[in-house]
Amino acid sequence: MTRPSVFITFGTRPEAIKMAPVVLELRRRGLFDVFLCLTGQHREMLDQVVEAFSLPVDHDLRVMQERQTLGHITSAVLKGMDPLLESVKPDIVLVHGDTTTTFAASLAAFYRMIPVGHVEAGLRTADMYNPYPEEMNRRLADRITSVHYPPTQAAAATLRAEGIAEDGMLVTGNTVIDALLATAAMPAPEADPRLAEALGRPGPKVLVTVHRRESWGMPMERVANAIVRVSTALPEATFIFPIHLNPVVRKTFKEILGPVPQVVFCEPLSYRPFVHLMKAVDVVITDSGGLQEEAPSLGKPVLVMRETTERPEGIAAGTALLVGTDTETISRELLTLLTDRAAYDRMAHAINPYGDGRAAERIADHLEHRFGLRADPPAPFAGAAGR
Ligand code: UD1
Ligand code: UDP
Repeated sequence: MTRPSVFITFGTRPEAIKMAPVVLELRRRGLFDVFLCLTGQHREMLDQVVEAFSLPVDHDLRVMQERQTLGHITSAVLKGMDPLLESVKPDIVLVHGDTTTTFAASLAAFYRMIPVGHVEAGLRTADMYNPYPEEMNRRLADRITSVHYPPTQAAAATLRAEGIAEDGMLVTGNTVIDALLATAAMPAPEADPRLAEALGRPGPKVLVTVHRRESWGMPMERVANAIVRVSTALPEATFIFPIHLNPVVRKTFKEILGPVPQVVFCEPLSYRPFVHLMKAVDVVITDSGGLQEEAPSLGKPVLVMRETTERPEGIAAGTALLVGTDTETISRELLTLLTDRAAYDRMAHAINPYGDGRAAERIADHLEHRFGLRADPPAPFAGAAGR
């Protein structure tokens, strides 16, 4: 009997981290032909993850250009993926999340009339430009795809409200929690000497990441100014900032924060050192999607420097706070967290509303059922694992 062929594709760091558990679980079972295609929307940051999880890559479209436009990514992925889909002829294509790779790869598969499964389906804000272009990427991907893997019950409810059929939908939990729990259980790697020095300083430690396109320019300047303000008001605080490789992002932050001694920049970290860094700091300030899911799981308060979020569970649980990109609001909330023990303790509790570490297993079970390899469909992820 021929094995069902599953074509998995992703192109950026977070997609790779979140799809690694799925790739590894499907391969471990030996019931599918797994074809892994990187789009190469990211390069160094993607390669770090591929290496960290020892992912077996079958093809790489290598689309990344410096300061690339959305039009370039979309057209290069469509052009590169179309002949590949024609030759591989997969039974299903799996995509993840909300990047331009996600949307373009879904469209390429749709044009070949190949069913698509969307991992991390159903996340929404009410604003099509926030986050940009991710909100539209995921809405479009959810229309094109026929199998939906929402991570939470709330995401599933959103899909149902949009008229997405229940058939072909499974609430899985977020695969990032699979990756996080497995990685956090590994021993900490030897710390880079500069990071070890920064972590050894007295005073509170703040982990910073910022990259979103809608924050380029003024919003990022306001974020940088908030960090300047807090380092002036609280000189014993240390900010550790693994800075995204995007030259637009680097220019703004290096210009404003380069002269501030409390800010320690480093290059993007591989996943294991990064997870152990998250464990070591006191507070996370970020505009990242993935960090909003990981930090609550590790019991770290997270200030979300965006106007909206598609991840309301961390806010509802009280471990995440939406602070926007206003200098005054960010510096006020951060200073409160760093100086008021009771305020800190109110936010610092571990909660896992996003998953239980078994999302990849549920996706693999669902695919087995879909292809007639197993009698019963898997049970969905029911919800938060509690404090
Ligand atoms: C992309 C995704 C975003 C996701 C983020 C995760 C889109 C439009 N954006 O944003 O949804 O949250 O990844 O990090 O899909 N670069 C490098 N090396 C790398 C990666 C990036 O040099 O390994 C530089 C390049 O100059 C590139 C630029 O960063 O042109 C921007 O990369 P791009 O993928 O377009 O946008 P991100 O901001 O990374
Ligand atoms: N991450 C990492 N190294 C870093 C910064 C982040 O491995 O130096 C991980 C982080 O743990 C999370 C993911 O990258 O799983 C988030 O990526 P990013 O913020 O770039 O994208 P987003 O989640 O916003 O799409």
